[in-house]
Amino acid sequence: MKLKSLLVGLAAFALIGAAAADEPIVIKFSHVVAQDTPKGKAADFFAKRAAELTQGRVKVEVYPNSTLYKDKEELEALQLGAVQMLAPSLAKFGPLGVREFEVFDLPYIFDNYQDLHKVTYGPVGQQLMAKLEPKGIKGLAFWDNGFKSFSANTPIRQPSNLKGKKMRIQSSKVLEEQMRVLGAIPQVMAFSEVYQALQTGVVDGTENPISNFYTQKMHEVQKYLTLTDHGYLGYAVITNKKFWEGLPADIRTQLEQAMKEATEYGNGIAKEENEKALELVKASGKTEIHTPTAEEKLAFKRVLVPVHKKMESRVGADLIQSIYQATGFDPSKL
Ligand code: LMR
Repeated sequence: MKLKSLLVGLAAFALIGAAAADEPIVIKFSHVVAQDTPKGKAADFFAKRAAELTQGRVKVEVYPNSTLYKDKEELEALQLGAVQMLAPSLAKFGPLGVREFEVFDLPYIFDNYQDLHKVTYGPVGQQLMAKLEPKGIKGLAFWDNGFKSFSANTPIRQPSNLKGKKMRIQSSKVLEEQMRVLGAIPQVMAFSEVYQALQTGVVDGTENPISNFYTQKMHEVQKYLTLTDHGYLGYAVITNKKFWEGLPADIRTQLEQAMKEATEYGNGIAKEENEKALELVKASGKTEIHTPTAEEKLAFKRVLVPVHKKMESRVGADLIQSIYQATGFDPSKL
């Protein structure tokens, strides 16, 4: 009798064990933008390919639009292991103590995606990712969004138009300096709070690629948008290092493949997504869009590029030089 109940107990235990082994590994992927953006689409693509390549052994749950965590909280959650994957913008790594990522925020340092990719797909990008490891974070990929424009409720034709304006920025000292040289008042704020802050007049304006501008409905609360393309906004896809290294090797390889494919897909659609968003803002008729003349753009460059020199001590003069070398950018040729 005793033996029988022991056997029954053992069988039940084995069943529970088998069920647990069948449970997929869950990766919570939190981000702050809409699903219908380059980052949102790349994250969903990654989730789909991860499920396919691991044959269901991994389930990636994507939480868009700050539904799980806001900007600052999500980085803390990653370090604590409450989420396993994020793709914060490169402007948001300063609070982690990795100031070098703010080099991407330097105004006009990249003229186009090709120049940018020389850095993100090259050795400088790899060196930057390595800086995350002592923080318990593993960098998996660079994902593109696009080039930022300024918006406000008053027209922006020249740098002096932003004087005295309260401008929302991400938590980057480079962006803070960029606003200061324009005579604007920078206000750091979580992305999820920007719409309301613009609506209520807590801030007067902001900067973002058009895909974010449109999907957050900022065109409803900003009358003017000037296509300055004055800076790049993109992401580092990151994971908790301990979690990543603790994964079975075969699963990790499959997830690396899924990430590679998601990166190709996301970076392949980013430009077009921003172009489509621009058309949608135009069609809304709510925001007047201004394309600066060559002369107007040069005026912005002349005011903003000196931020590079000013921020050398923050992001590293050598790092700035290595980007100039990779892209051929020459600040003296303005
Ligand atoms: C912002 O806060 O403006 C952006 O970083 C949001 C994002 O993730 O694209």
